[in-house]
Amino acid sequence: MIIKAIKLYEKGFMTQPFALGGEDGPEKFDPTVRYRSSLQNFLIDTGDEVILVDTGMPLEAPDTVPEEDSAIYLGSRIKDYVSALADAGYKPEQVSKILVTHKHEDHTGELRSFPNAKIYMAPEEAEALGLEGDNIVKADYADGPYHNFPAAQKIAEGVYLIKAKGHTNGNSIIIAESDGLFYMFHGDVTYTDEALYADKLSVVYEDKAAARETLNNVREFIRNNPTVYLSTHTPLGYENLENLRVVDLDNPTETLPVGEITYKTATGKYVCGICGYVYDPDKGDPDNGVPAGTPFDKLPEDWKCPRCKQAKTNFNKA
Ligand SMILES: [Fe+2]
Repeated sequence: MIIKAIKLYEKGFMTQPFALGGEDGPEKFDPTVRYRSSLQNFLIDTGDEVILVDTGMPLEAPDTVPEEDSAIYLGSRIKDYVSALADAGYKPEQVSKILVTHKHEDHTGELRSFPNAKIYMAPEEAEALGLEGDNIVKADYADGPYHNFPAAQKIAEGVYLIKAKGHTNGNSIIIAESDGLFYMFHGDVTYTDEALYADKLSVVYEDKAAARETLNNVREFIRNNPTVYLSTHTPLGYENLENLRVVDLDNPTETLPVGEITYKTATGKYVCGICGYVYDPDKGDPDNGVPAGTPFDKLPEDWKCPRCKQAKTNFNKA
């Protein structure tokens, strides 16, 4: 079995109140403490088939602008999902299964790009995303317990989809077994590994009691099984994988500094992602009936790039 990280965004950050403040309240934590953030998803090549865990942000999602008081900044884009997959040596057509940890856009962005894949997710998530069709497999977790987790579904030899509600109502964890190690793809059960070691929930959950139960189950599993913890939103996700680092809950990994962050204030200008035309609200687009002083979000929905005639949705905040 080969497991790879698909790296999508880098050099972001999250604050301690965001990452740890779900139960005690964000005010109990220090907003000046920041953890490194990134976005990566994962691929499992069993030798017989290629299985993805989540599919990143949509191709057309614009880069966001970090602000001094941002709770989480995803970072800047390294690659779109399909290009990052190509860099890892795989084509979309090769993917036979996609396992979705949860419905959020940064985990489901490119579900549309895999013509031969069955997409497995909890029924709650399929419903929330409005997904129906022959390629959508609503998980029933009917293969019994998996270790200390009460309900799981076997996806392939050594690959399990596990019911793990809390972050969202249809959250799942994936565990892959290989060479005596358990690789845990947990989606956003924690945003940074510091929260796993500190036994704290982030502020993002749909069901707090279920999120607590899930984190308890995750920690119990990790205590009893040699686990490589594969996170989505911290570089520790791929660093743990590259170093085959087994979690020892009594010995947290070192918190590395975030590094220099370039704060930019959004200028109000937007740049066409297709041709590079800059929309400046101070100038408007008088040739097309848009007076000076019109903010980008007040442009008509059918407004198009005056240069390349592509839709407004292709513009990114500058
Ligand atoms: Fe996420």
